[in-house]
Amino acid sequence: MNKNLYETANILMQDHPTQLSVFSNLASLIYLELPDLNWVGFYLNQGDMLILGPFMGKPATTQIPFHRGVCGECVRLHQTVYVPDVHLHPDHIACDEASNSELVIPLISNGILLGVLDIDSPIKNRFDVETITTLEKIVEDLVNTIDNIPFFK
Ligand code: SME
Repeated sequence: MNKNLYETANILMQDHPTQLSVFSNLASLIYLELPDLNWVGFYLNQGDMLILGPFMGKPATTQIPFHRGVCGECVRLHQTVYVPDVHLHPDHIACDEASNSELVIPLISNGILLGVLDIDSPIKNRFDVETITTLEKIVEDLVNTIDNIPFFK
């Protein structure tokens, strides 16, 4: 467990006027706290499509259908998808040509998929078990935190 990242994420989650605020701060924190990342952000479930939410990194594709990409795979499986080498993935959508590995974690509340946390690295095999576990725990806390607050008001 990356204790510092986890504890700071939880401090940021205590200040939650809207979901948008929390998503934005977490994208920034993860991007700045973990080394060797080139994109961190949220895609949010808008019915039949993932729509780009708060992120850090280069401008990215704004819409991902559930049948496309690593993000779509995460939506279909309802579980974390780790791709150690995106060039070996048959349907990786390249938003930044620098990306070499990718981690996508689903945001699931009472069985309902709210969106995904998508993280790209320029390094192959970037994500170890400890990092993945920490990020999954942050996402679990995030889902519990945002459950009853508006997306934007
Ligand atoms: N690589 C993702 C697309 C989003 S970008 O990485 C920001 C995918 O294959 O779904």
